[in-house]
Amino acid sequence: MAFTTEERYRPYADWSADYIDTIRNNTQSSPWRTNFHIETPHGLLNDPNGFSYFNGKWTLFYQYFPFGAAHGLKSWVHTESTDLVHFEPTGTMLYPDTPLDSHGAYSGSAMQFDDKLFLFYTGNVRDENWVRHPYQIGALMDTDGQIQKIDQVLIEQPTDTTDHFRDPQIFNFKGNYYTIVGGQNLDEKGIIKFYKAVDNDYLNWEYVADLNFDNDLTAYMMECPNLVFIDEKPVLLYCPQGLDKAVLDYDNIYPNMYKIAQSFDPETATMVNPSPLEQLDYGFECYATQAFNAPDGRALAVSWLALPDVEYPTDRYDYQGCLSLVKELTIKDGKLYQYPVEAITSLRTDSQAFAAKAETNNVYELEVTVEADSSLDLVLFADANGHGLKLTIDPANERVSLDRKDCGEAFALDFGTERHCEIDNQPTTANIFIDKSVFEIFINKGEKVFSGRVFPRKDQTGIAVLAGKATGHYYPLDYGRKTN
Ligand code: FRU
Repeated sequence: MAFTTEERYRPYADWSADYIDTIRNNTQSSPWRTNFHIETPHGLLNDPNGFSYFNGKWTLFYQYFPFGAAHGLKSWVHTESTDLVHFEPTGTMLYPDTPLDSHGAYSGSAMQFDDKLFLFYTGNVRDENWVRHPYQIGALMDTDGQIQKIDQVLIEQPTDTTDHFRDPQIFNFKGNYYTIVGGQNLDEKGIIKFYKAVDNDYLNWEYVADLNFDNDLTAYMMECPNLVFIDEKPVLLYCPQGLDKAVLDYDNIYPNMYKIAQSFDPETATMVNPSPLEQLDYGFECYATQAFNAPDGRALAVSWLALPDVEYPTDRYDYQGCLSLVKELTIKDGKLYQYPVEAITSLRTDSQAFAAKAETNNVYELEVTVEADSSLDLVLFADANGHGLKLTIDPANERVSLDRKDCGEAFALDFGTERHCEIDNQPTTANIFIDKSVFEIFINKGEKVFSGRVFPRKDQTGIAVLAGKATGHYYPLDYGRKTN
């Protein structure tokens, strides 16, 4: 169903219960519903929001349009977790219901102050001429999940940006609170604005400068910037839309990238000696990754496993998008690693030696190791003829590649069906998480990652080895009861 603008911005109360029942039933009948990834009961999920620790629990929201597979009037849906693997939706929502967020409660972050969780987000407002007014605004959630909005604009649109100014991330650095906000300058180049909380008051923000991170100024907008600290090193994750491929080649419609710097100077908003830009993920779907430093110091991240402006086969089931597993970020030998939190192993129900399989339920983890002088051609979601998602791990030729062209329903063909990355000539391990229509592949325990979606046919449930050899394990996974 193609949505008109009127439908996309229709007030929530004006959709009938019958309509919602119909699309819910349609969504639930999809053959591609996941087992252990967060997805919607119906409608579209996009960015992770407000990832934080509050009231003894991990808190994670997502951007939501409930009425179909379209980007319309967005709200936040709240989920919570005690293990960073099982997330329960609570029913709490942040709705677009005030003059400061009338056209969408857009993305943002969260931080505990006293006994409340402060939600810092973008109120998207369109006036009668459909001119956009982005307001950086806030709300407080209490321990009962009640949300009270703060009735004032916390950061106004700067005079030197266009109306593309959104996605505030609040963070603490050495005892002070700061916020970065993605934006577009008047030359239509992507920038990141940096603010300091005056006297650590989250209602009172003072502009410091544009974040200095050796911005190549080729992107037209920086969406969803996040700054986290790993072993004291600042790591900036962001989505530079329109980035010139001469700066760093990428295949997806929009990239998610990062830079690591030596140190951070908040006085001048400077990431000192930043690395060149790097791809966060080599797969087909990974965007709007949100990261934060947990109270225990760990940097945790979660990504949206879909992309803006792409149509997915689930659209005809009236839903779209899911979140990635929660990944812990670390730095080893100067490189960023991303790997699911340890508790993911609690989903394992058995352990078997790695071998080809005619049939699985497409809910498992596979761990394979390929020797340095060897290679492996593996097919996940394989049919009887060995057609599916083809993963080639080839240390001898220093390359990992992935091809989804023979895996079920084709989509996003304009952006190619193959992805690859370089690896070293050394024994190479892949931890492969398969979940019905999701794959997350972690090479060498997270040195490189390939994430994405496939929409396999009913008979695509096997694991085939086309060539080469590997050792490893097959772990069936089970999340248990899931509500969404
Ligand atoms: C990124 C994004 C954000 C925005 C949100 C709206 O996917 O466009 O910049 O806040 O989605 O849903």
